Amino acid sequence: MRMLILLIAAAALPGQEAEVRNPRTSLADVAAGAKTFRSHCSPCHGLNGEGGRGPNLAAGRFYHGSSDADLLRNISTGIPGTEMPALFYNADRIWQIVAYIRSLSAAPAAPVGDPARGKALFSAKGCPQCHRVRGEGGRLGPDLTTIGESRAPAYLRQSLLDPDAVVLPPYWVVRFRDDSGRAHEGFLLNEDTYTVQFLDFQSRLHSMEKSGLQDYRVEKKSRMPSFRGALSDAALQDLVAYLSSLRSPGGSR
Ligand code: HEC
Ligand code: HEC
Repeated sequence: MRMLILLIAAAALPGQEAEVRNPRTSLADVAAGAKTFRSHCSPCHGLNGEGGRGPNLAAGRFYHGSSDADLLRNISTGIPGTEMPALFYNADRIWQIVAYIRSLSAAPAAPVGDPARGKALFSAKGCPQCHRVRGEGGRLGPDLTTIGESRAPAYLRQSLLDPDAVVLPPYWVVRFRDDSGRAHEGFLLNEDTYTVQFLDFQSRLHSMEKSGLQDYRVEKKSRMPSFRGALSDAALQDLVAYLSSLRSPGGSR
């Protein structure tokens, strides 16, 4: 009996668990993990893991253990006696979520690129057409004034190369024709069985009855063009360095 207990204790030693390494850490894995996170974890842990009913997962410190194996276990089996549910996904899918959680707290990378050159590229490439920084720019995309605080460099790089990988719900696009045949499109704000509310691309709010609408569809595709091929690798690094540098004046990190 005593022997058995010792064996179990040995199996749970942190030193042993540290051997386990997440096998799914590519950018595609992070993107897939982000998707699962947004639909299944955000209601409790916040859209960007900042916390809510559940704890902050973006700070890189975990009360129930910080190794890859700890995260895999806590997500798979849940935390008994708390609101944290068991998630019965296959291991690959959970590893992808772990990769995403890690990306949230990735130490701000040593700035390989040059933020000043990145800033010039930001204007030259037309980013302000859709994005605001400190009040200047368009409204078709998210405000980037403090983007460096909430997004790791790998995520930013991916946003530029593959905008469709993660599309935040406020940027899902609804399209349809009304009963007179006129086409409408805009960012979906809200819908229920009978009505839909959306913001057209001039930021005007519309609310319409759904009955009689045709070809109604919601597309989770980004309005942002991919810059794959349009930016050299050096330019990409400069832009990411600039985006990473966008933080609130008093902010930490
Ligand atoms: C119904 C709400 C809820 C949902 C949904 C939920 N969690 Fe949690 N989670 C919690 C709560 C509450 C805790 C804290 C448990 C405690 O220690 O009291 C927690 C704890 C955790 C922890 C451990 C944190 C630490 O500090 O060690 C991880 C990791 C975690 N959740 C990941 C996830 C992931 C990933 C998902 C989605 C696949 C998810 N959770 C879905 C409520 C939730
Ligand atoms: C035609 C409009 C448009 C242009 C031009 C554009 N974007 Fe975007 N961008 C968007 C939209 C819409 C989103 C939100 C949907 C998504 O996540 O892809 C977005 C998302 C992003 C995000 C992710 C934000 C987040 O929190 O997830 C980053 C970073 C970003 N854009 C940077 C840039 C940079 C840098 C440029 C210029 C090289 C650029 N964008 C050009 C429309 C645009």
